[in-house]
Parts: sequence; C-alpha cells; structure tokens
Amino acid sequence: MQTDRQARPEFDAYAPLYAELLDDPARNRFAQDPLHFHRRKWLLVQRLLSRAGVNVATQRWLDVGCGRGELLELAGSNFAQAIGCDPSAGMLSSQASIKVHKQPSPTELPFADGSVDFVTAVCVYHHVHGEARTGLTNEIRRVLTPRGLCCILEHNPWNPVTRGIVNRCPVDVDAELLNAPAARTLLQASGFEPVSTNYFLYFPESLFPPFSALETMLSKLPLGGQYALLARAPS
Ligand SMILES: C[S@@+](CC[C@H](N)C(=O)[O-])C[C@H]1O[C@@H](n2cnc3c(N)ncnc32)[C@H](O)[C@@H]1O
Repeated sequence: MQTDRQARPEFDAYAPLYAELLDDPARNRFAQDPLHFHRRKWLLVQRLLSRAGVNVATQRWLDVGCGRGELLELAGSNFAQAIGCDPSAGMLSSQASIKVHKQPSPTELPFADGSVDFVTAVCVYHHVHGEARTGLTNEIRRVLTPRGLCCILEHNPWNPVTRGIVNRCPVDVDAELLNAPAARTLLQASGFEPVSTNYFLYFPESLFPPFSALETMLSKLPLGGQYALLARAPS
C-alpha cells in the first residue's frame, strides 16, 4: 500500500493539459473568461475579510493547494506577503511570478508554526480523502497564527449545475464533494470557530455586473455554485 509520501500527486498527471481538461459547455456558458471565477472569489474573500475587520495589507497569506497560482497572482499584491503550496510539482511549474512551495505530502505544509495570518484552500478539499482531510486541516491550524483566519472555498454539491460539471470533468474523477455543513464540522473538529458561510456564483459573468447586489442578498441560500466558509483558529 502506498503512503501519502510515496503516492504520485494526482494533479501531476492533469497539469500539462489542465485548461483543456476543465473545458465544459456549461462552465463556458457561465463564464467566457476562465479568470472570471478567480475574480469572483477574490471579490468575496475581500468582502469577508473586510467584514471581519482585517486589513489585508498587514496579512501574510498562504493559498494551500494553489495549483497554477491564478488567485495569488490576481490578489497577492494586496497582502504583506502571499505564498502558495501544493503537493503537485506539475501544477506549480506553470507559475513563475509568485512564491510557491511543494508540499512534501498531502498532509504536510512546509511552513513554521504560526507563520501566516490567513489561509485559503480553493477547490482543494474535494480532492482530499478520508483521514487526510483532518490531517490537512490540523496542518492549516498549525501554520496559522493564533486567531488567524482560514477560508475554504468549495463546489456546492446542492447546486445541480455544479454537480453536472463535476460529474463530467476528468480532473474530478475521484472528487468527493463536501457540503458547507460538512466543511464546517471538519474545521470545528480541528478547533476552528466558524465565522460565516456564504454561497456565491448564482449569476454568470454576463449578468453579474447588474446583479452583484442580488448575489450578495442570496448568499445565505445554499444554492450558489460554490460557497466560502470563513473560520477563526483558536487562541
Ligand atoms: C482543482 S485544483 C484547484 C487549484 C487552485 N486552488 C484553483 O482554485 O485554481 C486542486 C488543487 O488541489 C491540490 N491538492 C490536492 N490535494 C491536496 C492537499 N492534500 N493539500 C494541498 N493541495 C492539494 C491539487 O494538486 C490541485 O492543484
């Protein structure tokens, strides 16, 4: 049996053709520009941090499972420090402009205790299975400063369009979606205190500008394409 450390990271196989593998008619109808999804995430994260009274300019941000690093590239300059990590060297290799580190295993983060103030994990947990979910969450708590914030962004399995895209996507062949209450329970089991859950991606790229306020109003309805769960590490 292979251990975490011996197994070849799943995404090394997907990395060379990653953009092509994500190609899907429903996804393409929702947003013509693939960067649109990262922009929507950053807009929401920014709002959640501001509401939590956080000045991002003072924050050391770690994006766990950063993949090709698009979110870091988009938003990193707003933070005091922005770094990423991922177990897949293939995914990290397409990134030259930001600081990224290879994880030695799916449940080890190559950073010192309490060395970051804010952690994101974007569309990562549905690729992490069984006990490794708890292992990774405990690692996130370890590298976070006491009372630091963690934001998990995930596909919402209660949205039928999201489910359809995931079911067709070759990259998601082994995906195990987790709903927001399950993500909340996972974080609580590692000592985190939930702050908020917000559902988003109700409106496609073309309709988002006029309907962004309505999307905010719908954020407590568990039907958006994805959700963001913000939680605070223990003291
Ligand atoms: C769907 S991609 C998302 C990449 C990026 N976060 C984004 O939103 O574009 C999932 C990423 O999670 C990474 N991953 C899988 N298991 C992980 C783990 N245990 N810890 C950190 N990252 C992991 C994969 O290597 C892959 O790069």
